[in-house]
Amino acid sequence: MKDYIETDSPQETEQAGAYLADCLRAYRGDELWFVCLYGDLGAGKTAFVRGFAGALSPDSRVKSPTYTIVHEYRAGAVPVFHFDLYRLEDCADGLEEIGFDEYVSGGHCIVEWSEHLPALPADVITVHIRKTGESSRQIEMEY
Ligand SMILES: Nc1ncnc2c1ncn2[C@@H]1O[C@H](COP(=O)(O)OP(=O)(O)OP(=O)(O)O)[C@@H](O)[C@H]1O
Ligand SMILES: [Mg+2]
Repeated sequence: MKDYIETDSPQETEQAGAYLADCLRAYRGDELWFVCLYGDLGAGKTAFVRGFAGALSPDSRVKSPTYTIVHEYRAGAVPVFHFDLYRLEDCADGLEEIGFDEYVSGGHCIVEWSEHLPALPADVITVHIRKTGESSRQIEMEY
C-alpha cells in the first residue's frame, strides 16, 4: 500500500504518524514492524514519531534523541523503540553495544537516519518526508 499525505503543520505530521500506526494495526497487526524514516534535517521525522508512538503507547513523550540512540515507549501492548542513528557513525560498534537485534525482535521499531544501518531487516515499512515549504511537508508511506 502506498499513501501520500500533505501536511501544513507539525501537528498534522503527528497525525500522519498516528494514521500509519492505525494502518499497520489493520494490515500488519500480527507482525513486529520496522519503519524507516527518510528526510533531511528538520523535515519532521521526530514529529511523525510523536504521533506514531502516541497512538501505540499512550503516555509516550517523544523527544529528539540527542545523544541517546534509542528511546523506549512501553505503555502499549507492544513496546515501541525509537532510534535516531544520526550520530551512529561516531560510535563504532554502537549497534552491537546497544543490542540492536534484541530491539528488532522485541517490539516495533521506528528509525530516523536508517541510512546509517549496515543492513535492513526484511519487509521494512518506509516513510519519506519532503519539505515543500516553510511549514508544508509531503509524506509518502509505503507499507
Ligand atoms: N508540516 C510540518 N511537519 C513537521 N514539522 C514541521 C512542519 N512545518 C514546520 N515544521 C517544523 O520543522 C521541524 C521538524 O523537526 P523534527 O525534529 O521533527 O525534524 P527531524 O526530521 O526529526 O530532524 P532531525 O533529522 O534533526 O532529527 C520543527 O521545528 C517543526 O516545528
Ligand atoms: Mg529527529
